[in-house]
Amino acid sequence: MKLMGDSKKTLKYFLSRKWKAMIFIAALSFIVAFFESLATFAIYPVLSLMSPETVSGVHNSNLDTIMSWITSHSPASPLYAAVVLLFGLTLIKLVLSYGNILLTWVTANTIYQETQIQIMSSLLRSDYQFLLSAQKGDLAYRALNAPGYVSKITNVIPMITVEVLKTLMLMTMLFLISPQVTLFLVIIATLYFLVARYIAGNVSYGTGSGRAKSASNQSIHAMNALKGIKAIRLFGVTKFWIDQFARECKNFYFFARKDAAITGIPSMLLELVSVSFICAMALYFTGNGKNFLGNLPMIGVFAYSLLKLLPSLKQISNYGMELMANLPHAEAAYHAIEESERYQGNAGGHEWLNAFQSQIAIKDVSFYYANTKKPAVRNVNVEIAKGQFVGIIGPSGSGKTTLLDLLGGLLKVSSGEILLDGKPIDSFSSESMSDHISYVGQDPFLYNETIRNNILFGRKDPGNDAIRQALRKADVLEFVESLPGGLDFVVADDGMKMSGGQRQRICIARALLRNPEILLLDEATSALDHKTEEKIIETILRIVRQDRDTVIFVTHRKSAIQQADHIIKMKDGQVLTPEEPSSVSPNRETDGDLRPEI
Ligand SMILES: Nc1ncnc2c1ncn2[C@@H]1O[C@H](COP(=O)(O)OP(=O)(O)OP(=O)(O)O)[C@@H](O)[C@H]1O
Ligand SMILES: [Mg+2]
Repeated sequence: MKLMGDSKKTLKYFLSRKWKAMIFIAALSFIVAFFESLATFAIYPVLSLMSPETVSGVHNSNLDTIMSWITSHSPASPLYAAVVLLFGLTLIKLVLSYGNILLTWVTANTIYQETQIQIMSSLLRSDYQFLLSAQKGDLAYRALNAPGYVSKITNVIPMITVEVLKTLMLMTMLFLISPQVTLFLVIIATLYFLVARYIAGNVSYGTGSGRAKSASNQSIHAMNALKGIKAIRLFGVTKFWIDQFARECKNFYFFARKDAAITGIPSMLLELVSVSFICAMALYFTGNGKNFLGNLPMIGVFAYSLLKLLPSLKQISNYGMELMANLPHAEAAYHAIEESERYQGNAGGHEWLNAFQSQIAIKDVSFYYANTKKPAVRNVNVEIAKGQFVGIIGPSGSGKTTLLDLLGGLLKVSSGEILLDGKPIDSFSSESMSDHISYVGQDPFLYNETIRNNILFGRKDPGNDAIRQALRKADVLEFVESLPGGLDFVVADDGMKMSGGQRQRICIARALLRNPEILLLDEATSALDHKTEEKIIETILRIVRQDRDTVIFVTHRKSAIQQADHIIKMKDGQVLTPEEPSSVSPNRETDGDLRPEI
């Protein structure tokens, strides 16, 4: 997956999602700022009415107008009116400001959680091949961490807008007072923006990209380490794995430190340049018999304007740098959405599969995994009739799992077609297919939940009796009942609290609970002892014969396929001539690692 680039697309994508809310927030922030200044200003009438002598020296036409307005509109007590005005304005400012804080928080966090959900759902719905080549740790970072930075960006943009508006308003006001002073300020502000933009665009974005890459690597290392903890311990390489993770943490810290060191520079420069300018003016006007006192008001206006403008300019550059530093994370989130949506594939077609009636036909099917030159399955032609028990055998890497994944609709054929009752399987919706097809994979998947939930696996609970029956068919009921809590026993991550064979049988029970018409088993009994395997196969065969279900069974064991109606023998992705089960021989050349039973 791409990590950097597409800044504009990223911003456009995320901002357009909540643009109304963001414009509203920016407008509200502006009103808050307006009321804040009014409320600050409203202290003046209170003070002047409390002690007229202290402020009697100050004369300003605007203030005088307001004072006379208050006095003429409050015959009872002008002081009382001034206090009410101050209190009222402060109250309005506080209410608006509280509303604004709340709205900003809600918008940012809505974007946060909506992005998380969107990334996760489009990843889970995306094409299986696309997921096969992605790194799970990286995907976890993109779905869990990156959206947090998206919300930071959407949070900062209204704030930048407000600061820019405030600066423009101040500039306009200053322009009315003194066009020369404003020109000077425009030059200072432009220079400052150029420096800040350069730093934000190059340094902040660069450190942000470094941090995004490190965050992704941290997630990859952490996930791999926790997943492979058994192998890591047994191979005695714990330190190596800790060091790998620590390296990424240090990388992240390095970029964060660089960012912290650089962020303050533009605002410090701005302050330095402004102060130097005022000092230079002061020195210039005091030297060579110049009239300093006469120029004092002008110097005062310069100093005052800078004092007002500096905080806004500093904020704009800080927010800008924050935005650029967070942008690479947002790009990571954007690319996850964009790519997984581009590779959507698991929804299947629009047709609803009501029942499997007659036949599966594999017609001249070939399949290439992404970026491979050699087909994993090549020109396969097979017909499987309803109610058959079909065995697939062949050496490791010969394409058995791939063929099964094609039959399950998990992978899409590169050429040829797979027909279900005469219709291409990709014309059926995957939802309706999964109502009729169950799958037990080579690596049984269990998660940290109860046995009941692992068997239900998101389906509606048909009740304990049905679950027990499925467990009985998979020859694991007795074991489950011996566990503390029985069906409510929590199996730990990957079913770690159970043996490999027990895990396989729970997964078989999960598949059988669905009463599938087509059962795909990929070495589903490989971890079982010969006797248990035989028992399960017998049960499955009984169901097959009774309900006319179809079972396609990949195995390395001769015993498991001895009762098969049909055998598909694979080598190098191709199907060798079909044989009757009775004639299957443990031929090492063609059957590869076909293991003898113990
Ligand atoms: N995700 C993948 N990307 C690229 N090549 C793959 C991928 N998965 C499998 N292959 C290749 O496709 C070929 C067939 O693999 P497949 O898993 O179907 O073999 P198999 O017959 O099931 O082997 P085994 O008995 O070991 O399970 C192998 O050469 C394998 O290396
Ligand atoms: Mg396999």
